[in-house]
Amino acid sequence: TILLPYEKMREVTKTVLYDNEDPPQHWHTYLEKVKASAETIGYPIFIRSDEASNKHDWVHSCYVEKPEDLEAHMFNIVEFVEMQFLSDLVLRGFIVREFMELDVRFTAFNGFPVAREFRFFVKGGRLQCWHPYWFPSAMVEPSTEDYISILAEMENLPETDLEILTGYAEKIAGVLNGYWSIDFCQLADETWAMTDMATGNQSYHFTRCQHTPEQQKEDYPDPYEDTWKRQKEERKALQEKWAVKTP
Ligand SMILES: Nc1ncnc2c1ncn2[C@@H]1O[C@H](COP(=O)(O)OP(=O)(O)O)[C@@H](O)[C@H]1O
Ligand SMILES: [Mg+2]
Repeated sequence: TILLPYEKMREVTKTVLYDNEDPPQHWHTYLEKVKASAETIGYPIFIRSDEASNKHDWVHSCYVEKPEDLEAHMFNIVEFVEMQFLSDLVLRGFIVREFMELDVRFTAFNGFPVAREFRFFVKGGRLQCWHPYWFPSAMVEPSTEDYISILAEMENLPETDLEILTGYAEKIAGVLNGYWSIDFCQLADETWAMTDMATGNQSYHFTRCQHTPEQQKEDYPDPYEDTWKRQKEERKALQEKWAVKTP
């Protein structure tokens, strides 16, 4: 993982996205630094900004196969951050990571590889609860019809793995105060990697969990609801309703 802080992102965002002009010279200097980091790590690479990866746009955002794609993928993330103006996302730089081969079961969204990931909540240094990271209501355009049963199977976390991840989560939380969510994903070789953390109060909990804030229960559907199937049916009904009737 290589962190590349960049203080002039606001200026570049304004120039490129709002004024439709070429980026200033310091952007090109920064881009060369990101490229050099990617070269050191080796393609494909995983990129993200300090606060977001726009993972749902996978093949156009965080997953980068070659140097020629880097700038466009970075601007995809810049635009994503800019579109989140209702939240307080900002962009203070990019992060280049070695691309890890996950234990992928199918893809969803824009080619995103869905693998076994779990979210652990720790409060005051102790495990509060944990749940799978992926679930039916989060899925959009899964690559297989069978995704609900595959997700159900992926949710099984053997006792030994639960012990390992609880150990990791409490160790990480031990050096930080407060309330945190910590995400772990399983690699193809069955080991675990920590990929992300966020403050506990701002992290999604399974709505069936006893620790879920009331507001979240209202805002999100039941994780086991098959929303993708419902959306498909609604879309089909709309298409039929508005279909142009050829004489
Ligand atoms: N280095 C990596 N190699 C492969 N996949 C990764 C890597 N880092 C993250 N991912 C995948 O991308 C997802 C999003 O990454 P993350 O850093 O958590 O971004 P975000 O904050 O946008 O969720 C992870 O849940 C994981 O599935
Ligand atoms: Mg994440």
